[in-house]
Amino acid sequence: MRLSRDQMIEASWVVPSTVIPAVMLVLIVYATFAVGVHVPGHEQTIDPKLVAQTAPFTNPGVFDRGGGNFEVVMIGQTWSFNPNEIRVPVGSRVTFTTTSQDVIHGLRVEKTNVNMMLIPGQIGRATAHFTQPGTYLLVCHEYCGVSPVPTLGHQAMYGKVVVE
Ligand code: CUA
Repeated sequence: MRLSRDQMIEASWVVPSTVIPAVMLVLIVYATFAVGVHVPGHEQTIDPKLVAQTAPFTNPGVFDRGGGNFEVVMIGQTWSFNPNEIRVPVGSRVTFTTTSQDVIHGLRVEKTNVNMMLIPGQIGRATAHFTQPGTYLLVCHEYCGVSPVPTLGHQAMYGKVVVE
């Protein structure tokens, strides 16, 4: 069967518009199951009204887990992080175990791969390796607030990681 010129032109659009989404689907499946790439922050769920009574959030803070590993148990709330100052030695691997006790917040730690949402009812985790001394700003990057003063203090919701 020979295609006419018009059919060739049509095929030149139809084929990519079928193949490209199919390739993307395959890549998504590959990334999910073979590489383990997934949206952070949905490993475990808790009752968002009982954050302060639910372990490990009964005791927020910075904990030495040995071998250069630290865990930061952190609660986000309008408009602060608890804890909001974290001190660790150079070379530490720091795992942030997070949730929110009110609305959705963000957590971005500069110069690291920590970039996540703090979602009520969900525990999120992300780990950063601090190989350089310095002060690393951490910020809420979700425009957050509650009625009747929504987002009034969002820009004041920040903290720092001091690596020394
Ligand atoms: Cu919390 Cu913006």
